Amino acid sequence: MKKPRNEKRQEETTESDEKEKSMSTVIEDLIARRVYNSRGEETVEVDVVTTSGFGRVSAPAGKSRGKSEVVYYPQNSVEQALKKVEESVAPEIVGLNADYQEEIDRTLHEIDGSKDFKVIGGNTAFAVSLANAEAAANSYGSLLFQYLGGHVAHELPYPLGNTISGGQHGSGKTPDIQEFLVLPYGADSFVEAAATNVQAHRKIGEILKKKDKLFTGGKSDEGAWVANVGDLEALEILANACEEVSDELGSECGAGIDVAGSSLWNGKGRSYVYERERKKRNPGEQLDFILELIKKYHLAYVEDAFHEEDFTGFAELAKKAKNCLICGDDLFTTNIERLSRGIKTKAANAIIIKVNQVGTLTDASETVEKARKNGYTPIMAHRSGDTCDWHIAHLAVAFKCPIIKTGIVEGARIAKINELIRIEEFLGNRAEMADLKNSVGG
Ligand code: PGA
Ligand code: ZN
Repeated sequence: MKKPRNEKRQEETTESDEKEKSMSTVIEDLIARRVYNSRGEETVEVDVVTTSGFGRVSAPAGKSRGKSEVVYYPQNSVEQALKKVEESVAPEIVGLNADYQEEIDRTLHEIDGSKDFKVIGGNTAFAVSLANAEAAANSYGSLLFQYLGGHVAHELPYPLGNTISGGQHGSGKTPDIQEFLVLPYGADSFVEAAATNVQAHRKIGEILKKKDKLFTGGKSDEGAWVANVGDLEALEILANACEEVSDELGSECGAGIDVAGSSLWNGKGRSYVYERERKKRNPGEQLDFILELIKKYHLAYVEDAFHEEDFTGFAELAKKAKNCLICGDDLFTTNIERLSRGIKTKAANAIIIKVNQVGTLTDASETVEKARKNGYTPIMAHRSGDTCDWHIAHLAVAFKCPIIKTGIVEGARIAKINELIRIEEFLGNRAEMADLKNSVGG
């Protein structure tokens, strides 16, 4: 008879391994339930219970997803995912040791057996993987960032925050570009950086109100303003607000955009379609347009300027843009093979890390490591449909990501920001802001 995986593994582990790993981290129970994300969509939440600890994680969801992301749920159904946990995931995971994160994640891949987690669901894998890490940390009485990053982890990321929404995140007459972002790269502490973003967001709201009598103060999923402005108007407002806030607070803050190029790209017409502007740009014109924006608005950050298969377009931009992070989100989908292709073709100098794009913590941390070794800035990020789960705040510190992209207002965003404020306080005078000097603001 085939032995259950946990018994087999137990035999494989050596005696000294066993001594090193505490029995307090043996997984005694794993439960999944249906909860909701900030968009009111069903999602999966997982509890992992060890002999002396507990971890709980809920999964987020994207709206402008990359094509190479893992499949969120089997048959697109949270119900099916819960069934899988009960029937095939929990029986294999219970009895393993939460301290062996790589083994847990490998087991998830083995149970699933597909390349893209379509059998158990990438979001199911995400919640189990991360809840496992939290349970292990909790078993040792450690905070997650210290458990994963060790006692050397002491650098806080700069928060990259969304202020105006467009593209697939907007609705009606909003800009074509998806996100207009603030990066407070001159802040001396995380608390100061968070305050800078809040002030910029508020100021932008006031400007929009003055500009448009019909402005309702409406906000998108990510808490950014939803307003009847075009791309250039939005950039003008953003750049002015950044300048004013920098002057008022005495610390530099820069502007950025997420173009979400794949949502503008029309493959048949081979052009980027800016509907509001009634303009089409071929790849060459797109490159010129983005370079012009970087120059005119001193952009510190540009994400997904081209569609997700255009590594060449990205590379041309990365070569020509100065003092600007050229970042791939849909381009890489946190996938190490896609990142390798990007490194080879010199497609970017930064990468968005969304753990649920690949499914497990081990996969994501390998991608971060590869990025760092090759001079890419790893940026930990939320999803537009998120929950009040704060674990990515810890991952940003543990993985030494110099930036976290997680919004400025709205409950699910604030949950991460506030957790970073707590981490900074916990670290006391050991806390330091990450080093961004060589990447932006030059
Ligand atoms: P999401 O997009 O809707 O897929 O989370 C956010 C982003 O493009 O950065
Ligand atoms: Zn993006």
